[in-house]
Amino acid sequence: MAIISSKKQPPEPNGQPKQRRESAKAPSKENILQPEAAVDEGKQEESIRPQRFADYIGQKDLKDVLDIAIKAAKSRGEVLDHLLLYGPPGLGKTTMAMILASEMGVNYKITSAPALERPRDIAGLLVNLKPGDILFVDEIHRLSRMTEEILYPAMEDYRLDITIGKGSSTRIRSVPLAKFTLVGATTRVGALTSPLRDRFGLVQKLRFYEVDELSKIVLRSAQLLQTPVTEDGATEIARRSRGTPRIANRLLKRVRDYAEVKLSGEITESVASEALQLFQVDPCGLDWTDRRMLSVIIEQFNGGPVGLETIAAATGEDTQTIEEVYEPYLMQIGYLSRTPRGRVATKAAYKHLGFKPPNEQLSLL
Ligand SMILES: Nc1ncnc2c1ncn2[C@@H]1O[C@H](COP(=O)(O)OP(=O)(O)O)[C@@H](O)[C@H]1O
Ligand SMILES: [Mg+2]
Repeated sequence: MAIISSKKQPPEPNGQPKQRRESAKAPSKENILQPEAAVDEGKQEESIRPQRFADYIGQKDLKDVLDIAIKAAKSRGEVLDHLLLYGPPGLGKTTMAMILASEMGVNYKITSAPALERPRDIAGLLVNLKPGDILFVDEIHRLSRMTEEILYPAMEDYRLDITIGKGSSTRIRSVPLAKFTLVGATTRVGALTSPLRDRFGLVQKLRFYEVDELSKIVLRSAQLLQTPVTEDGATEIARRSRGTPRIANRLLKRVRDYAEVKLSGEITESVASEALQLFQVDPCGLDWTDRRMLSVIIEQFNGGPVGLETIAAATGEDTQTIEEVYEPYLMQIGYLSRTPRGRVATKAAYKHLGFKPPNEQLSLL
């Protein structure tokens, strides 16, 4: 079966760089506050990943919408609408896709856009789907043009259009597909092409978690890891987790090691704060880049406004990572605001970093 396309593939889908640039920072070799999973972390995550809706903590809006969608689809005996999940890394997109499959009682396949470079990669997956199956495509904003074009009729009409032959003998054959659900995940919803975005019946944003929600996640994970932790201990870990479950679980494991080696094993508030201080995790979960961003704005630019490019140059991060990973959290905790003229550090940021907030009259805030 030959699949060709008349269109030339653009060198870089959607004009984005394929790989995130290596950052010039690196105060420590591994960054325990990084929201993406570390290379060997994926396997460990599976043991504590929630399997059912009831164990998925927080994200009330998302759960309400999906609960209705699941019930409606089940009662009509139909497949779930295609769903696009977007939001910063580590907030539970992959987890939700897996939960959906188990709640719907269907199978799922997980793949990621960079693995679907050639048309036959996606075609192979599509033809093997069974009715109701969920196809999860991570980093969906990185699909190649050709793959995307194969997905349009597949999503809309459950049809795979295959181009056979070359030159004048070219013809298109359509192969019917099972009715399936595409779940796409992305950290960059703005980078999706509109024809692709428009084909998702449900588009849902994941939010950063509140401290009380993260604390419940820590308590649940601690139980699964058979680690004793007090409520205050869980809250202390939650506060330093940047609103992100993946980070909360990672910090929990670090604190557990510390508690086992140094002390009796129970994670109390003081044990958690001692351990996290040792690992240089800031009380609000700020990492080196966050602190650098804020201190550059405060020290070199009087609190701002400062343009994104300048911040990128000062921290060695690319503008995309700053916009997708760093800024959302700093804005969420009220340390940074975005104005049309650039980024501004708030008084809370001055205080947290130990600077004297500027005089009200002189302040640009
Ligand atoms: N709502 C949640 N409740 C409990 N744990 C969660 C929740 N969301 C995420 N997690 C935990 O965080 C980890 C990272 O979530 P994941 O779904 O892989 O994030 P993403 O795909 O958005 O990067 C998972 O292993 C899971 O254990
Ligand atoms: Mg994921």
